Amino acid sequence: MRTFRIAPSILSADFSCLGQEVRDVIAAGADIIHFDVMDNHYVPNLTIGPMVCEAIRPHSAAPIDVHLMVKPVDSLAAAFAKAGADIITFHPEASEHVDRTLGLIKDAGCKAGLVFNPATSLSYLDHVMDKIDMVLIMSVNPGFGGQKFIPHALDKVREARRRIDEYTAKHGGEVWLEVDGGIKADNIRAVAEAGADTFVAGSAIYGQDNYKTVIDAMRAELAQLR
Ligand code: DX5
Ligand code: ZN
Repeated sequence: MRTFRIAPSILSADFSCLGQEVRDVIAAGADIIHFDVMDNHYVPNLTIGPMVCEAIRPHSAAPIDVHLMVKPVDSLAAAFAKAGADIITFHPEASEHVDRTLGLIKDAGCKAGLVFNPATSLSYLDHVMDKIDMVLIMSVNPGFGGQKFIPHALDKVREARRRIDEYTAKHGGEVWLEVDGGIKADNIRAVAEAGADTFVAGSAIYGQDNYKTVIDAMRAELAQLR
């Protein structure tokens, strides 16, 4: 039986009461808190930093999945590890030394992962699989919530699944395959069929009054795959 994880993005939450929003979404059945960090340089938007991560940390025991859309990466990655992040992912184009950045995240005690924009090749994975705990496929261009899912991302998810399975069959371990952007109850099953196990959803969840209704609908779709 496959394990699926739902990771609401707090980018679409009410920032005036973020602690409550984190507690509510976990109480509604979410597994992970997806934390989008944008720097108005690597992406054209500005969001939240390590201080906010530290502030929400006591509100839930659920893993905090920090998605860094920043350049440079290393100093912020270290700051987020200190601020209580569990998983830290970054875009390989934003780091001068991808292997070193992965290493410093792991050395700080966090899980590490790479994020792939719609036009970024998975070949960045070729020589670093031993340091990867998560592969994150973007199904929108990063920078904003509420964008439309890019269907071509499904091919990339299939290719990432193939690479992960090939690696873990040989070397063991576990690598999560997350997809981010435009995921809703009506397309989550197709994303899972392509091979994803972890699903970011911002506007689909926080855009509704009843988070549990949306998360239940997503799980009902995923249950049809088992
Ligand atoms: C986009 C962010 C996403 C975003 C997803 O740059 O990385 O995590 O919040 O939001 P939705 O689910 O609304 O596309
Ligand atoms: Zn994200």
